[in-house]
Amino acid sequence: MKELLSEILHVSAPAAEMGEVATYIPELSRARREDFGICTVSESGEVCGVGDYKKPFTMQSIVKPIILLAALMDKGMETVRALVGVEATGKPFDSFNYSDLALTGDHINPMVNTGAIALCTLIRGESYEKKFLRLIKLVRALAKNPDIGIDERVYLSERQTGNKNRALAYLLKAYGLINCDAEEVVDLYFRACSIRVSCEDLARIALVFASHGCDPETGERLFPAEYAKYVNAMLTICGMYDGSGEFALNVGVPAKSGVGGGIMAIVPSGMGIGIYSPSLNKKGNSCAGIKAMEELSKRLGLSIF
Ligand code: DON
Repeated sequence: MKELLSEILHVSAPAAEMGEVATYIPELSRARREDFGICTVSESGEVCGVGDYKKPFTMQSIVKPIILLAALMDKGMETVRALVGVEATGKPFDSFNYSDLALTGDHINPMVNTGAIALCTLIRGESYEKKFLRLIKLVRALAKNPDIGIDERVYLSERQTGNKNRALAYLLKAYGLINCDAEEVVDLYFRACSIRVSCEDLARIALVFASHGCDPETGERLFPAEYAKYVNAMLTICGMYDGSGEFALNVGVPAKSGVGGGIMAIVPSGMGIGIYSPSLNKKGNSCAGIKAMEELSKRLGLSIF
């Protein structure tokens, strides 16, 4: 496996030259375009990593499936479905082009910013501090890594510049989809996006979703299987944003990208994959990460279709 991953790293690395690191969150522009890591974790617990697979980076949108999971665990499917739809929007992740009609849950989904911000309100906790603690504890448990924390510089940078997300939170409030303080909920979202992980952490989280909510090593159930099905279905149709159709065609597994350069991919036959390469294409997906996923899928026959 290590040999295969090294070869894939080698053939996929040049794709990074076709993109740019994110700059709209100023702190993310400090990333090194040439950084590249891949990690897989198998059901038997075998970890295989190459390149910068231990290097930390911020989850950004990869936290969205965890926000969805927390909302499902804390409030159940009916409440989640009542707030946020399940259809792909086909629009960029931060779009607020919702027409002049009232914004309803059917216009959004858990993987676009508006939907993820709305779902933050459903996480258990009397204060936004407690809701954040609940979320980060869940990330740590899924990744089996108690040391996971946030990148304060990225958090402050997004807090200073994230006015579009602030606007989305106020839009949700204007249309009655959230009732709380818009500033507090968007601050929780910024902190969630700034959670720092490695490729290995992402691969471990992905493996729990591939294992229907169980820790494959111990058999312990971490969340109900129907929630894994819910999250995996969402990732299949909109995990890679408006690049999800092409990803389904060329790779064919549920996956989530983030503008920090990470990709988390869930292989239902029993593998978790984490990738980091911060050079992004126009849709906000990692260029070398997508190329590596295409190669992995081709060589290991991973597509579910
Ligand atoms: O909301 C934002 O703009 C970022 N914190 C996260 C966006 C993101 O990762 C989109 N991913 N491709």
